[in-house]
Amino acid sequence: MGRIIIKNGEQTEGIRKSCRLAAQALDLAGQFVQQGVSTGFINAKIEEFIISHGAIPATKGYNGYPMSSCISLNEVVCHGIPSEQTVLKEGDILNIDVTTILNGYYGDTSRMFIVGEVSFEAESLIKATKHCLDLGIQQVKPGNYFGNIGFVISRYARANGYSVVYEFCGHGVGVNFHEAPNVDHTSRKNTGQLMKQGMIFTIEPMINQGKPSTDIDKKDGWTARTVDGKLSAQFEHTVLVTGTGFEVLTDIHGDYPIT
Ligand code: MF3
Ligand code: CO
Ligand code: CO
Repeated sequence: MGRIIIKNGEQTEGIRKSCRLAAQALDLAGQFVQQGVSTGFINAKIEEFIISHGAIPATKGYNGYPMSSCISLNEVVCHGIPSEQTVLKEGDILNIDVTTILNGYYGDTSRMFIVGEVSFEAESLIKATKHCLDLGIQQVKPGNYFGNIGFVISRYARANGYSVVYEFCGHGVGVNFHEAPNVDHTSRKNTGQLMKQGMIFTIEPMINQGKPSTDIDKKDGWTARTVDGKLSAQFEHTVLVTGTGFEVLTDIHGDYPIT
């Protein structure tokens, strides 16, 4: 783990632009989410959008990952590989995760989508996971501990009967895809490093209905699934530490700050 990069104004503006593009790619992807559409098709639309805006999909070729997005259905926790063979069906829940490189700067964001009508349990998990992200984001301010992000996330998740994935975490981002620090989604109060103005990192909690552990698919080497086959959900934003609090760089809908 290297040291945490403090971004200057020029870097921050470049990262902000890349973040906005990544979020726009998710908006576009959402338009194609419906029964009968393959995740491979959605990935192709994302790729075309990113490239046509002069950017590069960061995941393609990253440590051998083959696609321009990750699309993770139902019990898939993260790193689902889009495929023409994976066709959406009524009741599916899915996370779409996009990372862009625009003028050398990285933006990373993901959201949940639903196909038609989903179960009450699935809907509740998605709502709770989004709230976990929002609680984490509200901990972002100079002088606070990184550990307080995972503290509030895990406290809320467990109080609602869910578990928190500990095998994947958020991360510094912007100049590289995965920078220091690791941002754990389960951690103890007032532990870890201190946040400082100019730091940029993701918060991306993965919350499970059942047990927190994951298994990586032995054939493709990427797809992470819940060990018990129960549902998992995830939301991700890229966040800047400002002089007084936070700016959600991947928020293109004006959702933050939450009032
Ligand atoms: N976008 C993911 C993240 O939030 C990383 C995907 S890496 C890949 O960190 F190789 F699986 F694409
Ligand atoms: Co990320
Ligand atoms: Co991501």
